[in-house]
Amino acid sequence: MDSSDAYLRVRDLRVRFDTSDGVVRAVDGVSFAVERGRTLGIVGESGSGKSVTSLAILGLHDAKRATITGEISVGGRQLVGLPDEEVRRLRGRDMAMIFQDPLSALHPYYSIGRQIAEAYRVHHPEASRREARQRAVDMLDRVGIPQPARRFDQYPHEFSGGMRQRAMIAMSLVNDPALLIADEPTTALDVTVQAQILDLLADLQAEFHSAIILITHDLGVVGQVADEVLVMYGGRAVEQGGVEQVLRSPQHPYTWGLLSSVPSLHGDADADLVPIPGNPPSLINLPTGCAFHPRCRYDDRVGDRSRTEVPELRAAGADGHLVACHLSAEERAAIYAENVASVGVAR
Ligand SMILES: Nc1ncnc2c1ncn2[C@@H]1O[C@H](COP(=O)(O)OP(=O)(O)OP(=O)(O)O)[C@@H](O)[C@H]1O
Ligand code: SF4
Ligand SMILES: [Mg+2]
Repeated sequence: MDSSDAYLRVRDLRVRFDTSDGVVRAVDGVSFAVERGRTLGIVGESGSGKSVTSLAILGLHDAKRATITGEISVGGRQLVGLPDEEVRRLRGRDMAMIFQDPLSALHPYYSIGRQIAEAYRVHHPEASRREARQRAVDMLDRVGIPQPARRFDQYPHEFSGGMRQRAMIAMSLVNDPALLIADEPTTALDVTVQAQILDLLADLQAEFHSAIILITHDLGVVGQVADEVLVMYGGRAVEQGGVEQVLRSPQHPYTWGLLSSVPSLHGDADADLVPIPGNPPSLINLPTGCAFHPRCRYDDRVGDRSRTEVPELRAAGADGHLVACHLSAEERAAIYAENVASVGVAR
């Protein structure tokens, strides 16, 4: 997962916000890599630092409010500390983002087509208006918008939710970015449209050979599209590895909790869903030791350590599979076989 020729490499990323309530450690030492043609799924409950991670990669945090340290390398260029305008030049051309809510990215007063054409012209100043228009129509066609030449002149409110999401994907891809970050791109859509959009992303990835980060609450979505998975809790990575390893042989009690609470992953549709008790932690006052300990059923099996010592990410079995938990591999295997495997994780 941390191969040195990866298009995107993130090492020990930390993002901190100084607020009047205290210091928010939104991302606290996360590392991962994504190669072109591969998809990394980032999962975790609300507030675990998923969006802050992606905004840091895209250089979208206000430098006055956020302190970012660590390394972010995109196509061999180091981004942390680069002047804003250089990051802006990369954004849209080499890397682009698809947001959960297309209306936040699309301007209500300009036609959809014009916005896509403008996004193209920003990075292709040599292109004529006519060429940019043609490029936008082609992209609308490519993402499955019927009658794209006519749709070009319509406004965001004239598109359905699924069509708006397609239009935003067209806009994100208009400059062939090598890295695409999709933050909950299908959460607001119904299940059928969600599946269509995920298929579309997979097709486009095969065509453009982009590296994709897909952020989601839904491990079912991860199982469908990701090659690698990063599970975040309280701004930290608690488990990461290949999708097969993490979904078939999950190692962290938090990942077990996520899997037990996802209906689409149950082989047996009638199996009881078990929500994780309690709430996600405050990132201003993270619990000591393992941040998951107040919600973990197995915390006292390692004496005080869960409460006093932050567990490091360590190798867990197969290549590149990492877990941050004080339980020994044997204990995890025994607990999993006894209590967790029975929920039937099917892909
Ligand atoms: N600009 C900011 N100033 C202060 N705190 C912030 C800022 N942006 C994010 N945070 C805090 O950082 C934490 C992580 O937020 P983030 O948006 O990354 O969560 P998330 O994992 O994307 O959650 P969700 O699934 O709800 O989108 C949250 O506690 C959030 O309140
Ligand atoms: S370190 Fe302790 S509290 Fe954290 S997940 Fe492992 S057993 Fe649970
Ligand atoms: Mg988010």
